Amino acid sequence: MAVRDIITVPDPHLKRVSRPVEAVDDALRALMDDMVETMYEANGIGLAAIQVGVDKRVIVMDLSDKRDKPCYFVNPVVTPLTEECKLHREGCLSIPDVYDDVERPERVEVAYLDYNGKVRKDIAEDLFAVCIQHEMDHLEGIVFIDHLSRLKRDRAVKKVQKLVRLRRASTATV
Ligand code: NI
Repeated sequence: MAVRDIITVPDPHLKRVSRPVEAVDDALRALMDDMVETMYEANGIGLAAIQVGVDKRVIVMDLSDKRDKPCYFVNPVVTPLTEECKLHREGCLSIPDVYDDVERPERVEVAYLDYNGKVRKDIAEDLFAVCIQHEMDHLEGIVFIDHLSRLKRDRAVKKVQKLVRLRRASTATV
């Protein structure tokens, strides 16, 4: 397993629509293992493959308190089960230090293949519903700030660019 680099906005990869996975094999499991390690290292609760530069429809997530229950979603399909929406404050590993409210359906069904390629179906509510919809957006080339006003979006991208420059400068001198 290896920690991979997480790309940040405005990297054009984040606008790409990810491609369906053809087979859940050892190579894909190696990618998923790396993604989980990368997500834990970055203190995130979810990560889409495109955030490590791989345009495959793969998501990993861990919503457990002890961070010991990784979940894997291959070729996920999300269907809203209610028209009722809920506001939730979101953040994203590709948009560090930016948080804002996004409205999404509060209950969805998610169908997917798991780590072993088995077909599964879950009902997602609360944080699970928020997180899976946020990650699904990544597979469509959408990031959460795309749901905000243009002003907020531009401000967020500038903030991230500045942060990335500062990080680069600090690692260059150490
Ligand atoms: Ni994200």
